[in-house]
Amino acid sequence: MPINPVELYSQSLPQNGIPFHSLDIALEHAEDKLNGTLLELNYNPTLHPSETSRETGKWDTSKLDRYEWTSGFFSGSLWYMYKITGDENWKEFAESWTEDLEDAATISYDHDTGFRIFNSFGNGYKLLKNRSYYSVLLRGANTLSNRYNPTIGAIKSWDWLDTANFPVIIDNLMNLELLFWTADTIENEELYNQALSHADLSLTHHMRDDGSTYHIVDFSDEGTVLKKFTTQGCNSTAPGCGDRSVWARGQAWAVYGFTMIYRFTNEDRFLQAAIKASDYFIENLPEDRVPIYDFLEPVPSVRSKDASASAIVASGLFELYSYTKNVLYFNTAVDILESLTSDNYSTINSDSNAILKKSTIHRGKGNVGTSYADYYYLEAIIRYMELVQSDFPNIEPEIKLYLDQNYPNPFNNSTLIYYSTEQEGRVELAIYDYTGRLVQTLVDRSLPSGNYNILFNSSGLPSGIYFYVLRSNKQTLSKKMTLLK
Ligand code: GLY
Repeated sequence: MPINPVELYSQSLPQNGIPFHSLDIALEHAEDKLNGTLLELNYNPTLHPSETSRETGKWDTSKLDRYEWTSGFFSGSLWYMYKITGDENWKEFAESWTEDLEDAATISYDHDTGFRIFNSFGNGYKLLKNRSYYSVLLRGANTLSNRYNPTIGAIKSWDWLDTANFPVIIDNLMNLELLFWTADTIENEELYNQALSHADLSLTHHMRDDGSTYHIVDFSDEGTVLKKFTTQGCNSTAPGCGDRSVWARGQAWAVYGFTMIYRFTNEDRFLQAAIKASDYFIENLPEDRVPIYDFLEPVPSVRSKDASASAIVASGLFELYSYTKNVLYFNTAVDILESLTSDNYSTINSDSNAILKKSTIHRGKGNVGTSYADYYYLEAIIRYMELVQSDFPNIEPEIKLYLDQNYPNPFNNSTLIYYSTEQEGRVELAIYDYTGRLVQTLVDRSLPSGNYNILFNSSGLPSGIYFYVLRSNKQTLSKKMTLLK
């Protein structure tokens, strides 16, 4: 009898946890739509989808460049599909779309470096451990860190908002992940303290007592609060909104952001903030687990849904469950995934190549697909699979090698062979004669990343052409050398 994967996963569900019944449908649909998007983009890796047109359902062609805040999400989804399937084709697509974003690491007019760089290069680095992605991540962290203002104690979110002096938006929490990760990786206290200070300022000023959050807090140059408002939620110029607004995606950024910050800091105040933000979100969810784009929008004609908010929250809640072991968070995340996978929110019966439909960009612009709803939906599915210990294909990081010309060459007794490895891993270096016969194995062991050289002693060997071959798990390099006696 075939094994039902849902039953298999169910064996490791948390106590009273519910299974995600539509898992297989969700994965098949996501793979199908990512393929559809590649075709729609003509396999051109300089095009990075952001949102779909409401008229055609196709990706909006005016929002495909790497300067959009959203440019890292599609490559991130490609990495996730590689992680889920282990299929090398997805890896190649992910590499192409990621590598086109290298320049985005130095975009300095907003805080979105994290979204652009951590979702693309960051996800790639976690899988491949390659040094070239690592250096882009460090460059991105440096760009973001340069936006930090020590007097205010925060990163300025946007340079371009005329109506604010120093706007800090709730979304900015998400981009701290790049700073915290880099601080941890290179053990840099300054980056850590910047991210921590920003997180604390946001906790103090964005969160209301009931756990809901403001979208934007504007600060004076001295660090006093000038005003609190929203541009994407139900703002005070809209009839009936007044000064209060709980922009649903902003609330979702708070759920995810504070949970992620707890992961890096281990500070209980951030865990409590994540719990408060989540409880507000969950208590105010409608039956289908997808909120109106602003929880407090009173005008019926603009009460559009925001599937992206629920996708972000589903992913955040799985992580929050892992710290709190409160099964409510796990089950709400599963409920959200079921709802998003249903006909109501999935594009399963539509021509659109987004995976999900019915997200809202800002007040009055609803009913679109977005690359970020899709990205967090896939991430939530992966987190579910990790929590229930479902199998992922075994993806080994690629150990990248470099091999230089030996010196001296030609040589008459001994020569030095230079090589480098980008990651720790097993490396073999061997000498062959021109007929392909193995002459000597010089190295065959696990090495830390670094630059190496080894002396090859040719005593007893006749003059002639020899080859030295360097191998890792996925790469083989060779060079020729000449022995003259
Ligand atoms: N970070 C921009 C948005 O959520 O729309």
